[in-house]
Amino acid sequence: MDYKAQVTNSILGALDGELTSAEVYQKLETPKDFAMGDLAFPAFTLAKSMHKSPNMIAEELISKIDAASYDKVEVKGAYINFFLNKAHMSNEVITDVLEEGAAYGQNDSGKGGNVPIDMSSPNIAKPISMGHLRSTVIGNSIAKILVKNGYHPIKDNHLGDWGTQFGKLIVAYKKWGNEDDVKADPINNLVKYYVKFHKEDKEHPELDDEAREWFKKLEDGDEEATYLWQWFRDESLKAFNQIYDKLGVDFDTYNGEAFYNDKMQAGIDILKDKGLLEESQGAQVVKLDKYDLNPALILKSDGATLYITRDIATAIYRDQTYKPAMNLYVVGSEQTYYFQQLKAVLLEMGLKSAEDLHHIPFGLITVNGKKLSTRSGRIILLDEVLDEAIDLAQKQIESKNPDLPNKEEVAKEVGVGAIIFGDLKNERTNNIDFVLEDQLRFEGETGPYVQYSHARAESILKKAGDIDLRAADKSITDENAWETIRTLQDFPEVVKSACVDFEPSEIAKYSLRLAKAFNKYYAHSTILGDDDGLAGRLSLVKAVSIVLKESLNLLGVKAPDEM
Ligand code: ARG
Repeated sequence: MDYKAQVTNSILGALDGELTSAEVYQKLETPKDFAMGDLAFPAFTLAKSMHKSPNMIAEELISKIDAASYDKVEVKGAYINFFLNKAHMSNEVITDVLEEGAAYGQNDSGKGGNVPIDMSSPNIAKPISMGHLRSTVIGNSIAKILVKNGYHPIKDNHLGDWGTQFGKLIVAYKKWGNEDDVKADPINNLVKYYVKFHKEDKEHPELDDEAREWFKKLEDGDEEATYLWQWFRDESLKAFNQIYDKLGVDFDTYNGEAFYNDKMQAGIDILKDKGLLEESQGAQVVKLDKYDLNPALILKSDGATLYITRDIATAIYRDQTYKPAMNLYVVGSEQTYYFQQLKAVLLEMGLKSAEDLHHIPFGLITVNGKKLSTRSGRIILLDEVLDEAIDLAQKQIESKNPDLPNKEEVAKEVGVGAIIFGDLKNERTNNIDFVLEDQLRFEGETGPYVQYSHARAESILKKAGDIDLRAADKSITDENAWETIRTLQDFPEVVKSACVDFEPSEIAKYSLRLAKAFNKYYAHSTILGDDDGLAGRLSLVKAVSIVLKESLNLLGVKAPDEM
């Protein structure tokens, strides 16, 4: 099935042990120009070790290669060019895709292993930021890619729902807030109280003492404190869930920081037992010199716990609950140092799953050049960005396809899909600036372009009517179809690589490649021609539709049949 492996074997057979199979595989090039074949072996890489000219080496090798299983094998300068057997390969790959359907490309390398993914994780009583959006969509896609590779992901929303700021929030609410306002517009009003607290406490430092007392009460389970905290949390979650619903993302657990409030002692005990906790200016730290890292502060001088104290408890909990094959944290690059420290502390503690702990960082995102921030006044709300995208999609559909049934549903799928795709097509560590209009174009490197290509495939199939594809001869030799066929063949490898790299952009780029190849085929060949080859061509179109839809699915993007 793997044609690169097939060519590798052909070359190995002609060599005298000069290269290993892995070396040959790695040296194979994919020529840009189709006239140079599908794969090329650069013979000049052997010139030194074989003491011959590259051309001589190429000629010698080709004389020993059995060309029967290829369309053609030729020497061009210092290269041996392999032209794969189109009829055979197209038949094989199309048959596979049609038989396996959405499961095409599935593999079981994960062996069902549990993989907790810490993702989204916004902070209660604050607006969800673009960073949290990135974590949500990247995490969601990685979860789908993991499933495709035989893992069992557990999507955990590690909410920021604990910490001294809740003491401040309670004080502020009791002094300046009211129930109706919170109910009407929870996030904005809670933020307002919080901001007011920070203004007032400059002149009234006693507010800080009050806040500390209230947080202490909360930690001790005081009824009023717990009631208010729970209420703020519920209201915030309601607002977050509206966004998650729009994005089409759900979670398996919402075990936020508060969940670990009563589970921190175990971690502290291990640190103590192993002699890892040291006093430093009254506080308790773990020294990490060995890792070239600054000490990690675990307990403040007043005994208060921190973000990392709860993350240690979280890691222990996940370790015991899931016996994870890997532990993933999809959190922005700004926390890279923090996760290095966390991993180091957990390794020192001897936590088994810390060895396979991966922080999956991502870069910053701006919208139309504007920064998204929760603290300064210039907040661009994610919710508004999504609505604007849906609006733009609706306008496009209105002008292109005014008679489309269920326009609103499709506009949602296109608008939201454009945002998700616009994010995921970038290597995740890149910083990106989002120009909404660009992401919504039906042409270019966009989600709507891939969706549109899928809808085009579906519309061709619909036009063709009921034709039995199982019986079709799927050996297609049309040059114009070749890139599409080869790209279909690549999908299983891309699925694997995206998983190893935790990189949804590999899937997104793949989907663009397939869409482009297919559109070229569509432009240059008559697919719906009334000849013997029709059923074969339709099988190819069907295969393209399946793989485009599944690629989008792996990104968390919907693929409407019509748009
Ligand atoms: N709530 C945090 C923030 O917004 C992200 C939490 C990431 N997950 C974790 N286990 N630390 O910055």
